[in-house]
Amino acid sequence: MILALESSCDETAAAICTADGEIVAACVASQVEIHRRYGGVVPEVASRNHILHVRALVEQVLAEAGVRLGDIEAFAATSGPGLVSSLLIGTSMAKALAVAEGKPFLAVNHMEGHLLSPFMVGNGPPRRSVALIVSGGHTMLIHMNAVGDYRLLGRTRDDAAGEAFDKIAKMLGLPYPGGPEIDKRAALGRPDAYPFPRSFLDGHSLEFSFSGLKTAVLYHLPHLDLADSAVLADVCASVQEAICEVLVEKLVLAARQTGETWVTVSGGVSCNRGLRSKLMKRTSAEGLTLLLARPDLSTDNAAMIAYAAAQRLRLGQTSALEADVDPNLPLVA
Ligand code: KG4
Ligand code: ZN
Repeated sequence: MILALESSCDETAAAICTADGEIVAACVASQVEIHRRYGGVVPEVASRNHILHVRALVEQVLAEAGVRLGDIEAFAATSGPGLVSSLLIGTSMAKALAVAEGKPFLAVNHMEGHLLSPFMVGNGPPRRSVALIVSGGHTMLIHMNAVGDYRLLGRTRDDAAGEAFDKIAKMLGLPYPGGPEIDKRAALGRPDAYPFPRSFLDGHSLEFSFSGLKTAVLYHLPHLDLADSAVLADVCASVQEAICEVLVEKLVLAARQTGETWVTVSGGVSCNRGLRSKLMKRTSAEGLTLLLARPDLSTDNAAMIAYAAAQRLRLGQTSALEADVDPNLPLVA
């Protein structure tokens, strides 16, 4: 059993997981309501709230699992990428627990947590595949050979998919975080109502760009009556369609280019219902095997960090207590 802490952004999370990806216990203290009034995450507020919750979360997760600290094999925490003052809270706590118990500490890359999350809860072990990671800060395609052996196939040149959802939602007057708000309204709208741009869809590029879509929506705004819920639903459905079509087509293209038949999708945006249904249809038509991270393991959580740590521990890897946090920690060197 590995106990992991996740505090890279605005969720404080703790979880205990087995190396097979079974979740023994998991707790999250969400700060969404706190940051909503600012329209986004305020780093100083986030780190102060992590401090308030982290210790209680460790106690809660141990109680939920019915185990004692001494039963834990290793302690892990997200060490980047993320907000530096937030990362420090989780890593300091995990290091302190490791020292106190005389057990190993593992610093985990948050993006590796997302990358491996589709292999949890009965879908593992991690295997050769092409991965689409779509979160609030990142959008990337990775060719995974084995745990720790990753090749970057493509990434966004500007906004991440989640960032595009959030920024466009803000323009439409929807609350933070915007992704789930657009998802909800898109279900009632027509995806072909507005022909918003799809960047880099022609050709062989595996790069993404969502800034053109953001600008297109901005230019449309003066002509839209957003107080009309049918108009708002149509805009949301069209925006979602524009983002998801690019994501799905690039994933299929990446599978073709690499010759892989297994594809995985993870990160907060993979909760999007439009994306999930499009992915299922398109990958089955292509004869691809799709592994989708479970929705509660798609948004930031500590179980995926514990699972990634367990995979590293299996390979005999641990981290030094001197290991620093890195707000820009890359997944692929
Ligand atoms: O992976 P995540 O929880 O945190 C990061 O590592 O960034 O991803 C958060 C992102 C936010 O941009 C949020 O709007 C987006 O995931 N998101 C969604 C949905 N649920 C969360 N985007 C679209 N549809 C959703 N249902
Ligand atoms: Zn994340």
